[in-house]
Amino acid sequence: MKKTLTVLLVLAMALSFGACKGGESDVKTYKVGVSIYQFDDNFMTLYRNEMANYFKTLETATVKYDVQIMDAANDMATQTEQVETFISQGVDVLVINLVQTSSAESIYNLVQESGIPCVLINREPDAAYIGEKMCYVGADARQSGTYQGEIVTELPNMGDINSDGVISYIMIKGDPENTDAQYRTEFSVKALTDAGCKVKNLFEQTGNWAQSEGQELVATALAQYGNEVEVVFCNNDAMALGAYQSIVAANRTIGTDIYLLGVDALTECCQMVIDGKMTGTVFNDHVKQSHAAVDAAVKFINGQANEKYYWIDYTKVNSVDAAQTVIDIFATK
Ligand code: GAL
Repeated sequence: MKKTLTVLLVLAMALSFGACKGGESDVKTYKVGVSIYQFDDNFMTLYRNEMANYFKTLETATVKYDVQIMDAANDMATQTEQVETFISQGVDVLVINLVQTSSAESIYNLVQESGIPCVLINREPDAAYIGEKMCYVGADARQSGTYQGEIVTELPNMGDINSDGVISYIMIKGDPENTDAQYRTEFSVKALTDAGCKVKNLFEQTGNWAQSEGQELVATALAQYGNEVEVVFCNNDAMALGAYQSIVAANRTIGTDIYLLGVDALTECCQMVIDGKMTGTVFNDHVKQSHAAVDAAVKFINGQANEKYYWIDYTKVNSVDAAQTVIDIFATK
C-alpha cells in the first residue's frame, strides 16, 4: 500500500512538473528593436514612454514583448549601428524614428536585406523608402500648420495688434530637413493668407526643436524688431516654452501685445493656454500615434500585412476646454 502511494506521489509530481515546464515553453517572447532619433526631445519622450506602456498592456500569459528602446542621440551613424545590432540579434520587428530622412535609403537597404518588418515613425521618408513589410505612422504636419494659422485668424483682431493691416510674424523652425518643420512653417502662414490677411515675415530661423534655441532666437528677434512683432510661430512647444521666457524678459504680454503659438500640446503648454500665457497650441497626439505604431508592429509580428501609411489627426488647442481635454488625456497615462 505504502509503495503504491509513493509511486502515485512520484507520478503526480512528475506530471505537475511536466505541466509546469510545458506552460513555460508555451510563453512566446517577441523581440522589438526601437531606435529613437534623440531621447532629449520632449515630444519623442512622451511617445516612446507610451509605446513601452502600450506594449505591456498587450502582453498575455503566453505572449510577451521584449522591447529595447535605443537613443540614436541625433546621430545617423549611431542609428545605423543600432539597426545593424537589432538585425544581428534577430529581432522580430523594428520601429525606427529616423535621425535623418535624407539617409532613409541606407536604413531601407539594411531593413529590406534582413527581411525583418519595420514600422517607421514621426519622420516621414520619401515614399520610395517605405518598402516590403514596412509602413509609416505619423501625423500630417500640414494640418498642424493650418491649425496654428487658424488660431490666429480666429482672434478678434486676426493677429493684427497694431491695426496696420498686416500680420507681422517671426517663425522659429524645427530641424530644417524635417517635413514637420517645413509644412508647419508653410501652412501656418498659408492659413493667414487664405483668410485674406496680409503678412510680413520679419524673422525666420531654425531652433532645431529645442527650448534653449527657441529662447535665444526669440530674444534676438525681439531685440531687433521690438513692438513690430505681433505673432510668434514656433514649430513646436519646446521652442515656444523658450520663446515665452524671452517674451516675458522683453516685458511683452501674451494676448495683449503679442501672440504665441506652438505645436505638440505638452502639459505645461496646455496649462499656459488655460492661464492665457500662450495663445494656442496643436495637439500632436503621441498616444494615438504610439498605439498605432505598436499595433502595426504586432500585426507584422503575427505575419499580417499593414497599410503603407497610418495618419493620426491633430487637434486645435486654443480654449480652456480643449486644453483641459488634453491635460485629462495625459492624466490617465
Ligand atoms: C515633431 C514634434 C517635435 C519633435 C519632432 C521630432 O512631430 O512636434 O516636437 O518631437 O517631431 O521629429
